[in-house]
Amino acid sequence: MDAIEILKKYNLLKVIDEELDIYLEIPHIAYVEVKQPDSKAILFTNPIDKKTGKKFDIPVLMNIFCSYRAVELIIGDVENIASKISELLHLKPPVGFMDKLSMFGKLFDLKSVFPKRLNGKGECQQIIKLGANAKLSDLPVLTTWEQDGGPFITMGQVYTTSLDGTMHNLGMYRLQVYNDTELGLHWQIHKDSNHFFHQYKKAGVKMPVSIAIGGDPLYIWCGQAPLPMGVFELMLYGFIRGENAQLVKCITNDIYVPRDVNYVIEGFVDTNRLQIEGPFGDHTGYYTLEEEYPVLEVTAITSKKSPIFAATVVGKPPLEDKYMGYATERIFLPLLKTIAPDLIDYYMPENGVFHNLILAKMNVSYPGHATQLMHAFWGVGQMSFVKHALFINQDSPDLKDHANITKYILNRLHPDNILITQGVVDALDHSSPKFACGGKLGIDCTGDEIEYLGITLLSDEELLSKIQQVSDEVTALKQYEIDTKNPICVIKTKKTRNQKYLIDDLKQLSEYIKILIIVDDKKNDVNNPYMLIWRVANNIDASRDIYIINNFIAIDATNKNNLDNFNRRWPDDVDCTTSILNSLQARGLINIDKDFINRFYL
Ligand SMILES: Cc1cc2nc3c(=O)[nH]c(=O)nc-3n(C[C@H](O)[C@H](O)[C@H](O)COP(=O)(O)O)c2cc1C
Repeated sequence: MDAIEILKKYNLLKVIDEELDIYLEIPHIAYVEVKQPDSKAILFTNPIDKKTGKKFDIPVLMNIFCSYRAVELIIGDVENIASKISELLHLKPPVGFMDKLSMFGKLFDLKSVFPKRLNGKGECQQIIKLGANAKLSDLPVLTTWEQDGGPFITMGQVYTTSLDGTMHNLGMYRLQVYNDTELGLHWQIHKDSNHFFHQYKKAGVKMPVSIAIGGDPLYIWCGQAPLPMGVFELMLYGFIRGENAQLVKCITNDIYVPRDVNYVIEGFVDTNRLQIEGPFGDHTGYYTLEEEYPVLEVTAITSKKSPIFAATVVGKPPLEDKYMGYATERIFLPLLKTIAPDLIDYYMPENGVFHNLILAKMNVSYPGHATQLMHAFWGVGQMSFVKHALFINQDSPDLKDHANITKYILNRLHPDNILITQGVVDALDHSSPKFACGGKLGIDCTGDEIEYLGITLLSDEELLSKIQQVSDEVTALKQYEIDTKNPICVIKTKKTRNQKYLIDDLKQLSEYIKILIIVDDKKNDVNNPYMLIWRVANNIDASRDIYIINNFIAIDATNKNNLDNFNRRWPDDVDCTTSILNSLQARGLINIDKDFINRFYL
């Protein structure tokens, strides 16, 4: 598939010919664009490194998955793909001739699943640069954020194999360019390539790795798909496309890559060597801090004759990963149902940045059923990273009907039905007391509406004044969902102490407050529920930050520090560089106002 042709044909591509810096300028334009309701992909035809004055004749393509329409054009009808997967998972022995015919058709489809290895070279090897000629600085690699540790390849397809060569993997991991020949490989501790890495390390041999860029965008979507270890993501590619992925052997290692990609960076990893990677402004909207990761020593860079460089921008939602994540959510529902048959549907709201918040609708048949499903989620694959899971029964409104589902949940939320436990969390989670291990919150809202333990509702002004009489740390207040059985009161504080003391002081006002949420005074707006959900889901560790005092629930969503005995470093928010936004706006390259900047905490 030629992504540019398709995007152009359906008026989903903007072309910007102006010379633009690979340092901040290009990513900032893409960042602003993909937050627009009718966002488009952008082809930047004249990238330049303004620091060195180097001009690239390689266009940069960003926001390929810019909208639901783009997802449909690139991946296909995701509901249809999900139902094909579901049919296969429920295949039964055929009864009768017509049944046999239809089963034959389904199995015939599977012929396209297995990648084909071709002899000879692919288009991605029209130009071959080896040794000292293979320079990463020849690629227009972007630096997205001011505090980033350097330039990062953000849409790399990382191809690896197990030590014995029986398993193959495609993963989408960011890659930090250290210099002309070395790349940091940010495969996190739970990911498949990291498991392969340890096989090579144990055997004391170098690990071959190849990174492809561009080609059919479905490769990149497959790279981020959470398939179990040992299932090659290009099988999913073949299943969705109905055509086998066609692979060619790399020039300097034995890895196979798709023949039609734009670039291939080949090399080996010395498994005894790790190097500091990051910081990097990540899709949580926070920086991931420096940590040690393996390093790829580049042996060759091959490309098409006229390659295009693909990149994405991650940061605060909504971004391109919203659209990629939507396809993942839909296509993986039937697979998830194999471990949780009572699951009807699930939804990962974009401002919950996927693993931080999930809503699940289920058929409830017995007491504890929702709790059983919580444990199933937390025990399987990448679903185990989910921090906060809310379970709702079959009679609930549509999960995406935000207004009604919120009321439905709040009318059923009761302290007795809240489970707080511990488990693995995403390596990116910054709020857990320990790296990759932290609190989990499961709320069972599958029961009947709770009895109303009424509170006296006050206006925001009256309640703020009462609170300020107790504590002068509180600067602003807004109440939400006051017509439900669990109104939510959000306050901002100028934090000077552990918030458990503030909560202790405020519990005397529990006749006016059911759920209290505390956020920092700085960088929060109590009138912006979209970004409040983003902040709270990111900032809390359920086992530390949720206080249940009889029927009063308080949540401390402030940034943590030594006042909280928090011993890790708390990362900064990923913010745009104001001077870059101003300069782009002045040159007519973006068109945003104060409201837009505040709405998305730019
Ligand atoms: C835009 C984007 C960037 C990502 N960056 C990383 C990354 O740097 N490291 C990582 O381990 N996972 C990253 N992921 C998630 C992985 O791609 C995803 O977990 C995938 O399933 C990993 O494949 P694996 O299980 O085969 O290792 C990213 C996903 C997206 C959509």
